[in-house]
Parts: sequence; structure tokens; C-alpha cells
Amino acid sequence: MNTGPAATNSPAATPAPTSANSAVATTATAIVNIASLVTNDPSLGDGTPLGLIQDAAVVIDGDRVVWVGESSKAPATDNRVDAAGRAVIPGFVDSHSHLVFAGDRTAEFHARMSGQPYKAGGIRTTVAATRAATDAELSANVAHYMAEALRQGTTTFETKSGYGLTVEDEARALRIAAEHTDEVTYLGAHIVSPDYADDPAAYVDLVTGPMLDACAPHARWIDVFCEKGAFDGDQARAILTAGQAKGLAARIHANQLSYGPGVQLAVELGAASADHCTHLTDADVDALASGDTVATLLPGAEFSTRAQWPDARRLVDAGVTVALSTDCNPGSSFTSSVPFCVALAVRDMRMTPDEALWSATAGGAAALRRTDIGRVAVGARADLVLLDAPSHVHLAYRPGVPLVAQVWRTGVRVA
Ligand code: NIG
Ligand code: FE
Repeated sequence: MNTGPAATNSPAATPAPTSANSAVATTATAIVNIASLVTNDPSLGDGTPLGLIQDAAVVIDGDRVVWVGESSKAPATDNRVDAAGRAVIPGFVDSHSHLVFAGDRTAEFHARMSGQPYKAGGIRTTVAATRAATDAELSANVAHYMAEALRQGTTTFETKSGYGLTVEDEARALRIAAEHTDEVTYLGAHIVSPDYADDPAAYVDLVTGPMLDACAPHARWIDVFCEKGAFDGDQARAILTAGQAKGLAARIHANQLSYGPGVQLAVELGAASADHCTHLTDADVDALASGDTVATLLPGAEFSTRAQWPDARRLVDAGVTVALSTDCNPGSSFTSSVPFCVALAVRDMRMTPDEALWSATAGGAAALRRTDIGRVAVGARADLVLLDAPSHVHLAYRPGVPLVAQVWRTGVRVA
């Protein structure tokens, strides 16, 4: 990795506020001897988007980062953690998951890996199991997969409803999701409910009417699966604009299984993110490059459905902001591992290790329109991951290896 001028800080003996660093209380915790620190602040370190600082330290006070810079210049603090030459990166921001579910689709995966194509209709299997589950079972499931992801470095999760598809089951899914995260998405429009198979228009009325009324108080976002066999462009527009009118912000499952109107609709409606982006025309890429909608790529889905990879290189080269997330769900992508997605993005989607790391942290934050996470800079939330490796490049260089040594979230060591 490049080394460059490191951040300038006050000497240890006389810590004082600078434009880059706050005053540091001695009660703070300094993590020192970091071989390479990814800050995602281009004004720090080597001046690249990763803002990489070699031989670095980070100081945490309460839930915030209060100082970053060269380890030798770290201010005096009561608590010191020796990173012993490990790399430190921002906690991963997984901006797309579907964790409120019950049941299992091993048989469907097994059949697919034995030659059958992925069909989104498998969602109905999970809808039946989710409706039959108790609140406690669903909540325990969310907690289980979030804990699994946390151990792999994910400190922020978005998660969705979408396996209830009745007013009561969707509202309950969102209530349960909200017990575990602030980033909750209403996806009543995942597929047309089996109960409305003969009248999809009536289901759209439900999703934009009574179901939205019941769900909006529990969610920040509204999402729709815009795809052949799910919701077309007109339906998706009606659903997202109804949600926006109720104060929800839009995101969309777009262009996953085929070309379609989803990506351009996302840009037109000012959606925070268009997710999947597997089948894109030049006009879709141009639209993304001209707007501020993030393209969220979910390589776990292509891996688990043996589909073509999204063309990350084309998006990055066009200047589109790209996020990388897991899409963790029991059907198309049953992985909670962002490091796995980073490795796929580097190996198979031709992102550089730096781009993939940025997309899995700062990119996820952008997809959630958050500025407090996805970076390690003064004022950011103290969400950090220590890797058993000297640099973030090892996440792709050593795929499948559990490199996450420590996870800090809101200034507390949690794993
Ligand atoms: O993002 N594409 C739609 N929804 C999920 C799949 C859900 C499922 O198969 O259960 C996805 O891949
Ligand atoms: Fe999804």
C-alpha cells in the first residue's frame, strides 16, 4: 500500500484541539500500533479515498472517535490497546439484508446446485414459515444472524420485512427488526402475496394503503422488488411514491434477474440505493452516474444462484457510488459475511481491494445516507474492526479465513 504524509496531531504531552482532532480526555481509549488504518477520509493519510495511515493510532471517547493519526503522536490516555501490527478498518455497513424470516431452504439450494435455475417464487416457502413462527422465534433468528455478522465485522445492519405479506405479519416483522436495528425497511412489495395471486392490483392497493399505514411507523425505508414475476415499473413507482408521501425514503431491488425499469426509476425518484444492478444497459449506468442513487451490489446472491456477476468495474469507472452488501436471506444469499462479499467483488467483479473495502464501509453508509458511520475520523461513531492481518488487502488475499480479531461498536469492544 502507499504510504504518504500522515495526519498531523498535537504532541502527546500537550494534546490540543486541531482542525483534524478534538481535545482528548485521559479517560479515553487509545488503540495504538496499528500497521495500517483505513479512515475513508481522503484528507488523512495517503490522500486516496481510503485515507490510509501507516503506523497509526485511533483514540475513542464514549461512542466517538476523537483522534486519529500516527501512533508515535497519540495523546496520553488512561486506557491503551496494543493493536500489535494489525490493520484497523471501519466496521462494515451491511445496507441490505432480509433477516426477519423463519425456516430453511436447503432443499431449494441443493436443487439449484444440482442444475435447476433460481426462481424468486421460493420466497413463498419462507413466507409460509415466517407467518407460522412466533414473535420470539423471529426475534431470536434476527439476533442470531446479527451476532454472526458482528463477529465478522459488521457494525451496522439494514434489514427488511417481506416474508409476511399481510398487514399484521409485515408490521410485526418491522417491529421485530426495530428491536435490533434503526435501519428498518418495509418490503411488503417483495412478491404479490399468494393470497392475492388472482388480483395483483388489489395487493398493490393493500401495500400502498392499510399495510403502509400499519408499517410506516416502524420503518425508515420503503423497498420494492421490481422484476418480472414480482412488481413492474408502474407498480413499483406507485409503491415507492406512496411510501415517500408517508415519510419513508426509497430503495429498490432493481435489475437483479433481468433488464428492467428499476434502476432508472430509482434515480428518478431519488432513491438512496438501487440494489443488485446485475443487468444494466448503458442508459442505466448513465442514470446512476448522473444522480446520487448508490448502486448496491450483492455478490452473495450471484454466488448462491450461479448468476452472472454485476459489472462493478463498469459502474466504478463511470463514477457511480458503489456499495457492497450481503443480501443475507435464506433463499438467494444465505451469507452474513461481508468479508466473503469483498473477496468475491475483488476476484470476480474486478474491484480493486481498496474499492471493495470502501464500498463495504463508506459505500454502505452512503446507501443508508449516513455520515456518522463507515469511516474512522474525528466525530464518527467508534465502529472499528481489528484484522489479524497487516492490511485490509488480506480480506481478499486470504478468502474464507476468519481475520476479524476484534470488533468495537459505539466505542465498546463487542467481539
Ligand atoms: O434480494 N430479490 C428479491 N429478494 C431476495 C431474495 C429473497 C428470497 O429468495 O427469499 C434477494 O435476492
Ligand atoms: Fe434482497
